Amino acid sequence: MPHVYIEALSRHIGETVELKGWLTGSRSSGKIAFLQLRDGTGFVQGVVVKSEVAEAVFATARSLTQETSVVVTGTVRADERSPSGVELAVTGVRVVAPPHPASCALAPQDAAQDEYPITPKEHGVDFLMERRHLYLRHRGPWAIMRIRDELERAIHDFFAERGFLRFDAPLFMPTAVEGTTNLFEIDLFGEDTAYLSQSGQLYAEAGALAYGKVYTFGPTFRAEKSKTRKHLLEFWMIEPEVAYLEHEESMQLQEELLVYLVSRVLDKRAQELALLGREVSKLLPSAQGNYPRLSYDEALALLAEHGEPLSWGDDFGAPHETILGNAFDRPLFIHSWPAKTKAFYMQPYDHDPSRVKCADVIAPEGFGEIIGGSQRIHDYAFLKQRLVEHQLPEEAFAWYLDLRKYGSVPHSGFGLGLERTLAWLTGVTHLREVIPFPRMLTRMYP
Ligand code: 4AD
Ligand code: MG
Repeated sequence: MPHVYIEALSRHIGETVELKGWLTGSRSSGKIAFLQLRDGTGFVQGVVVKSEVAEAVFATARSLTQETSVVVTGTVRADERSPSGVELAVTGVRVVAPPHPASCALAPQDAAQDEYPITPKEHGVDFLMERRHLYLRHRGPWAIMRIRDELERAIHDFFAERGFLRFDAPLFMPTAVEGTTNLFEIDLFGEDTAYLSQSGQLYAEAGALAYGKVYTFGPTFRAEKSKTRKHLLEFWMIEPEVAYLEHEESMQLQEELLVYLVSRVLDKRAQELALLGREVSKLLPSAQGNYPRLSYDEALALLAEHGEPLSWGDDFGAPHETILGNAFDRPLFIHSWPAKTKAFYMQPYDHDPSRVKCADVIAPEGFGEIIGGSQRIHDYAFLKQRLVEHQLPEEAFAWYLDLRKYGSVPHSGFGLGLERTLAWLTGVTHLREVIPFPRMLTRMYP
């Protein structure tokens, strides 16, 4: 009997196949049983008709409980009402493992019970996140992780098509990159201190000067004590860095990347977006490019118009990003920020050194900042001066200064937050839903 995955069932109509998966739910009468089945690649309904199968098969089918692992045999038939377009006329059911031996706990708090804990009734978010290892099996997380996977693959394809080299930055760092306020410190056996990487950028710069066009794709860490829905302690960032690239050109690259990613997810993950109830019409403008560009000063003026005045030099908070994001139907660049608001490495404008060549990209619909990018200082003496101004230890940055000592060139790059981008694409408002196992002040388990 050929083993066929659910995603491929529609190519096997009329054939008898074997499906290896799990039961997500069922209902039955004396004559017929409906089995909701999943195998990781999708969901499908199996129909067992008492008069058409052996008695033991019907009895087994009726006795199955949620999340029992089963191998089901059946004939594939077209079914227009099903999202997969097919259903399975079941002829055989084999239980692989009973769902929950009473002696083995699913989660500490479920040890006393032996029912699968996530039932079709409504559960609170905390209840589900405490059982994330099981909750991942359910439809919502399934759709989100499928989109996450497609997004990651699209990112790799975008850069591969443009000749970028993937370049892995270290995660233990001797220094801070993005300020010292949200830095995780690691004690190295009482002999030294290291930090968890907030950004691979500095290493990506070494990569760009070695290989021209590179990008990193890895976890990054920020000690964010605030409990917001847009901040994780551990998140994934994609950081392209390109030698001889001016900031204007970098913004163009960012726009091309976002257009590519939105288009790809709309094209390849329509079923999952529909399952999540995402209004895809809201994503369509973002697939067209022509992203608006506002200077920091223009953004301040727009905020003042909306009754949120800020002083020059203030950073934006979540409410400000929401106002700005809601003013447009696609992502928006905010460029030319006050130097004092931004990181030490950003290149100032020649005509106005109080402003730096950088931009944040704000997603529409209130999803906030998804990209931070800039042109980097390439002058040795000036970078050294900035390190002093920011009270950063020059010895730890000696290698970074070397990049300006030998063959320095203007270069630019940016960091795309994977979870922020995915939250926007899926329409999910809390980042804990878009990463398999979120890490936050309030969530370290499982
Ligand atoms: O704006 P950030 O801090 O920029 C950098 O780290 C630069 N070194 C990037 C570069 O130029 N190579 O962070 C970049 C992005 C943000 O726009 C946001 O999308 C995401 O990373 N991000 C977070 N995502 C989840 N949780 C957090 N705590 C995040 N902090 C930043
Ligand atoms: Mg930023």
